[in-house]
Formats: sequence, structure tokens, C-alpha cells
Amino acid sequence: MPVSPSTVRLVNHLDLDYLRSSLENDVRAGLISSPKFLPPRWFYDEAGSDLFSQITRLPEYYPTRRELAILRERAADLAAASGADTLVELGSGTSEKTVLLLDALTEAGTLRCYAPVDVDAVTLAAAAQRLAERHPGLAVRAVCADFERHLRLLPRTGRRMVAFLGGTIGNLEPDARRVFMKELRGTLRPGDTFLLGADLVKDRKRLVAAYDDAAGVTAAFNRNVLHVINRELDADFEPDAFEHVARYDEEHDWIEMRLRASRAMRVRVAALDLDVDFAEGEETRTEISAKFRPGGLRAELDAAGFTVLRWFTDPAEDFSLVLAQA
Ligand code: SAH
Ligand code: AVI
Repeated sequence: MPVSPSTVRLVNHLDLDYLRSSLENDVRAGLISSPKFLPPRWFYDEAGSDLFSQITRLPEYYPTRRELAILRERAADLAAASGADTLVELGSGTSEKTVLLLDALTEAGTLRCYAPVDVDAVTLAAAAQRLAERHPGLAVRAVCADFERHLRLLPRTGRRMVAFLGGTIGNLEPDARRVFMKELRGTLRPGDTFLLGADLVKDRKRLVAAYDDAAGVTAAFNRNVLHVINRELDADFEPDAFEHVARYDEEHDWIEMRLRASRAMRVRVAALDLDVDFAEGEETRTEISAKFRPGGLRAELDAAGFTVLRWFTDPAEDFSLVLAQA
């Protein structure tokens, strides 16, 4: 029987007004607060996504390689256990690792639809096109949306596996993480599953190196948020006047990325009619990346109403991949 061509559709829930007002609100709230902070989702314009892809190939950044190793070993089992015909992927980026899941679901004979979800429309569209070409017959339903706000707008037909890979769950603040897991749980129907990739607590030197690489790619990724604000909100940040800081917080089990002002300066954010003073050495938090202990992660899944079906780690026990059902 001839294989029907794939179809690609992109639905955008992030119209320009919405993006603009949420960036304005986030930047105003973060820069007038003390200490200052900026939410990590604004790293990811096309340049930020490209820098993240470079990070995944750095020798110090182990999470992508570890998760890939688990997927190579376990994708067939995950596909069979889920029985999914629809793979929804949150924060899909370039969808590089996803290929292993798509291949396994194809092999299992169940796959019909892939729905990548991301805030970066350019990277999302390119990944959707690439995967449609690679998988004849697959319906690719890309959704440009914010997984903290738009879970209810995601494709709801079929037997779904919702994948959230890469450890991106760790970039949510603990309260936001709780809300996210509960909301996601609320959108799943019987038979749907949740595949979660989470980075594990380990030696702090390795953790800090993974977020402060020798080539300076993570530093460029961190400063990219200032380029985004300059471009979108007509600000005059000098990104090179901010030093990249990556620190491990033992109390919370998370890496914190910050941008430290190398001298006192005043920054104008024209679109907000806002002048922001930075003291020399003042740090603005740009990201947390939480690292999990197995018991803690299991408790969070339990609390959100999930039942764990599979729990895999790589041989070094650096990273875990968990399949759960509602
Ligand atoms: N899943 C990929 C990419 C991880 S990078 C991997 O494992 O390698 C994090 C991705 O999440 C980026 O592509 C970024 O654009 C996306 N992202 C960040 N915050 C988001 C949000 N609130 N809603 C949707 N996507 C988001
Ligand atoms: C996307 N996320 C899981 C990455 C992480 O490891 O927290 C983002 C990142 N930040 C610095 N390097 C990579």
C-alpha cells in the first residue's frame, strides 16, 4: 500500500500582543524587584535555541547524552507500555532526541500524530518540517504555546504520551512545578501517559561545570536574554558588562544562573519607560535548574496524582526518565 504523505500544521497561541504584554510584565516585575530576576523562557528566541543546541554538545553538559542513552535502551519498552498513537512533546526545541520515541512508536505500529509544543516558533516550525519529511504518513501538529499557560489548548484526541524531556521541569520554580504537574494531570485521560526527563543530584563540581563551560557557550546563552530585551523592548543593556554566574544551591538542590553587573550602571528600557539601576556586583537571577533525588521526584509525581509505570536511569545514575499514568 502506498504511504500517504505527512501533513504539517502549525497553530500559534502566542500572538504578538500576547508575547509583547507577557514580556513587558515579566521584565517590569523582575527588574523592579529586589533581588532582580528574569524568567528563563525569554532565553529562547531563534539565537537562544541555537545556543541551547550548542550547549547540548558541550563535553561538560551531560544531561542530553545521558537522556539519549536511556532512550536508546528503553524507547521500545516505553512505546509498548504507553501504547500511544499521539506524542505530545512540551518544550520540544529541535526535537532531536524525540526521533528515538517516534521510531519506537512507529515500530510498535501505533503512531499517528506528533504534536511538538514550544515558545520558539522558528525552531518549532523547522523541527516539525524535518520530522514530517522523516516520517511519511505522520500527522505533525505543531503548537506554539506556553506550557505553563496553555496545557488545555493542546491536542486532546487519541491515546497520548505527553513527553517533557531534557530536565526542563527543573527550570520551573517549585510552586510553578506543582501547579504544572497538577494541571497536566488534569488534562490526561485514562490510557494517556506522561514521560518525564529529570536531572539528578550529583557531585557539585560536575553540576557547576555543566552550567559554566570552558568555551563560554552557556555564558552567551545566559546573556541572550539581555539581547532579547534590547531588541523587543528597546532597552540599552550592554550584555558584555554582565558576567555569567552559575552556582549550586545545596539547600534547594538547584543550579542558579545569574548575570552579575561588572560595574554600576543605569539601563533604560524605553518601551516600559523604565530606568533600572544596577550596583556594581549586583546579580540578577535568570534561571534555576533543579536537580532531583529519586524519592523527592516520586513524591512530587504522587502528590500530583500520577502512578509511576517505569523508572529508568543511565548507568552513571546522572539522569532519570519516568513514565507515569494519571
Ligand atoms: N526538549 C529539548 C529542548 C530543551 S530546551 C531537549 O530536551 O533538548 C527547553 C525548550 O523549552 C526550548 O526549546 C524552549 O523554547 C522551550 N520552552 C521554555 N519555556 C517554555 C514555555 N513556558 N512553554 C513552551 N516552551 C518553552
Ligand atoms: C532546558 N533546560 C533543561 C536547560 C537546563 O539544563 O536547565 C537549560 C540550560 N541552562 C543552562 N544550560 C542549559
